[in-house]
Amino acid sequence: MENDIARVLVTNEELKSRIAELGAEITRDYAGKELLVLGILKGAVLFMADLVREIRLPLTFDFLAVSSYGASTSSSGVVRILKDVERSVEGVHILIAEDIVDTGLTLKYLKENLYRRHPESVKVVTLLDKPGRRKVEVVPDYNGFVIPDEFVVGFGLDFGEKYRNLPYVAVLKPSAYEV
Ligand code: XMP
Ligand code: MG
Repeated sequence: MENDIARVLVTNEELKSRIAELGAEITRDYAGKELLVLGILKGAVLFMADLVREIRLPLTFDFLAVSSYGASTSSSGVVRILKDVERSVEGVHILIAEDIVDTGLTLKYLKENLYRRHPESVKVVTLLDKPGRRKVEVVPDYNGFVIPDEFVVGFGLDFGEKYRNLPYVAVLKPSAYEV
């Protein structure tokens, strides 16, 4: 698996310390509020697990599963909710946790969908941001790292469901795509 890696973009140490900073910032911003952290399956799971342990507030979390990409690496813009939130989000402060914002199409759809359920607020925290690929205007409220326009894997992100367990964010060798 490690033989497939061309280059590490963000090390485990960098991830851990940046996630701690994000957690501290979110702790300050949401003090006294009822916070629901909503992780987008499956990519955001590792990030979210670390992040919630850095948020020193009472909170609840849940997950949404969406489908837009299939096995391809480019966005179709078509988003389907495969697994929805389990409870009403009316009056709740929702913080969507994403692994990466790329074209922005997934987030735009999700924010609009969630707003229709009358939450108190909807914000976004993403581990990675690829602003160079944006098709619609979505600005994450909290972002871990801005990365260049390259397909990345690791720390939750996959290629064909593989590499999610790498403890860092990396770019694959071209040979890893040729299967
Ligand atoms: P959009 O384009 O809607 O897409 O902002 C967000 C989702 O696309 C996936 N994505 C990636 N997954 N490496 C991945 O493993 C990447 O470089 C990458 N870029 C986009 C991801 O699932 C994200 O939630
Ligand atoms: Mg994916």
